[in-house]
Amino acid sequence: MKCWPDDRCLIALAMTTLITISRNVYPVDSANILGVFLSPSPSHLIVHMSVMKALAEQGHDITVVSGLKPKVNHPKIKNIIIDPTEENQRKMNEEMSGFGTKKTNLLLTFLKFLTADNVMFTMQFDALKHERFQPIYNNKYDLVIMGYFMNNFQFIVPAKLNCPMILTWTGQPMEMINSLVGTPHEVSYVPSIFTPHKSGEVMSLSSRLFNFVSSVLFRLFTNIMELSMEGNYRKLVADQTGLRTFSEMKKNVSLIFVNSHFSEGPIRPLVPGMVEIGGIQIKEKPDPLPKRLNDFLNNSKSNGAILFSLGSNMKSSNIQPATVEIIYKVLSSLKQNVIFKWEDLKNTPGNASNILYEKWLPQDDILAHPNLKLFITHAGKGGMAEAIYHGVPMIAMPIFAEQPTNAAKIVSSGYGLEVDILNLKEDTFKNSILEVLNNPIYRDNVQKFSKLYRDRPLSARENVIYWVEYVLRHHGAVHMQSPLVHMNFVQNNSLDVILIILIALFVIWKLLKLVFKGIVMLIGMAIRKLKSKIKSKNE
Ligand SMILES: *[C@@H]1O[C@H](CO)[C@@H](O)[C@H](O)[C@H]1NC(C)=O
Repeated sequence: MKCWPDDRCLIALAMTTLITISRNVYPVDSANILGVFLSPSPSHLIVHMSVMKALAEQGHDITVVSGLKPKVNHPKIKNIIIDPTEENQRKMNEEMSGFGTKKTNLLLTFLKFLTADNVMFTMQFDALKHERFQPIYNNKYDLVIMGYFMNNFQFIVPAKLNCPMILTWTGQPMEMINSLVGTPHEVSYVPSIFTPHKSGEVMSLSSRLFNFVSSVLFRLFTNIMELSMEGNYRKLVADQTGLRTFSEMKKNVSLIFVNSHFSEGPIRPLVPGMVEIGGIQIKEKPDPLPKRLNDFLNNSKSNGAILFSLGSNMKSSNIQPATVEIIYKVLSSLKQNVIFKWEDLKNTPGNASNILYEKWLPQDDILAHPNLKLFITHAGKGGMAEAIYHGVPMIAMPIFAEQPTNAAKIVSSGYGLEVDILNLKEDTFKNSILEVLNNPIYRDNVQKFSKLYRDRPLSARENVIYWVEYVLRHHGAVHMQSPLVHMNFVQNNSLDVILIILIALFVIWKLLKLVFKGIVMLIGMAIRKLKSKIKSKNE
């Protein structure tokens, strides 16, 4: 140092040393981390892989087993891909095409998971039994990170590896995962994913009634599903002895990452074991776009561009031809350039000069482009978060699962409009597009929120790294676990306490009655005595 031995310089030196020391109190060596993401949904895999990518960039040794080829990846990640069997793939396609033609309600979607031959379920179960999965058990891992998707039988993996586990979930906190870390279910003010709500609004009596009943049903459903999970867990244990039971493993979750942020609402209590990483899949800095897309977007300066995508679950060919025709007719009549996500590039809906078809899109990077003015979407969680992050207004065309709820949220927050894809009309579709493009209110609203969403002490990526290393440093961080995880229904609803209080009140009431009776009797006796005294005096 040049300024040596200046005093200020000495202090600065001392402070730097101190900071360096305190930062390194618990250094985390590069850890050996296994990711298990067997859910057949590509959009889920994007979220989970974004978590693993952050850890790989941090220098950890990462192995990932997935059911699909990941689109987000890192050169240092060792990938093991267990493709679904042909049979499962065929069933999966069938199920998806069913969704595009009729409106399925959320309850039915969930009920499907109860049937043992549900393909989303079998796919994940079969992958765990696959011969390519077995060598995993010969390695030693410091931590397993698993994607949650109604697949708790996969607790077998940390049970066999005997290491801590973290779960990642692609949505906001909900009943099924809350109970694993003890996040309380506050039905009086936290609307479930089923209950329509406005951010920050106190629910009306009817909403609270609905929320209460649906939450009870959902919990009932969760419990029934857990039984089937337990059965499958036992099948995976087979005759290996010394493994922990399913209910022991349910109490072994160190942490759950949820892909949401409180600024999106609803506001709810979170335990330290549930960490928000909303928008983890969104790059802090966009990657350069492929040349074709980049040129197309750069040439859209005067009128702007629109992105049309119904997501990765839904193949464009699964939409009714009449609907595709209307979509094409409207989009081709616009002044704006349109990027159209379409699987079958040999059979496109038409070749208007303002439309560019692409099979797969770097959606996040496209939404970050300043010329992009509108996003027409199926309102999946991922795309919606990206649009909000980049401040792009939307037209929602929801189909199933949580999409209708997301669409309602887009409309009620003023980020855009919703149109019914199963009953699409040319004029309503076109008018909605023109309204969102020409009325600045939608863009203003979403950009205002974008600022709130990004305002955090640690970015989603930093949060992942910090908390994963925290769990590693403290060997599973058992001290952080809520006691609720170890309590049963009676205990955590204080039913036993209430019963004791009721009994005590009953006993006290009985005693008071006795005492009262006694007093009345005594007074009666006294009066009688008095009366007879007066009588004898008068005589
Ligand atoms: C789960 O079990 C592992 C051992 O397999 C242990 O290291 C970890 O601390 C446990 N985690 C919790 C939260 O109980």
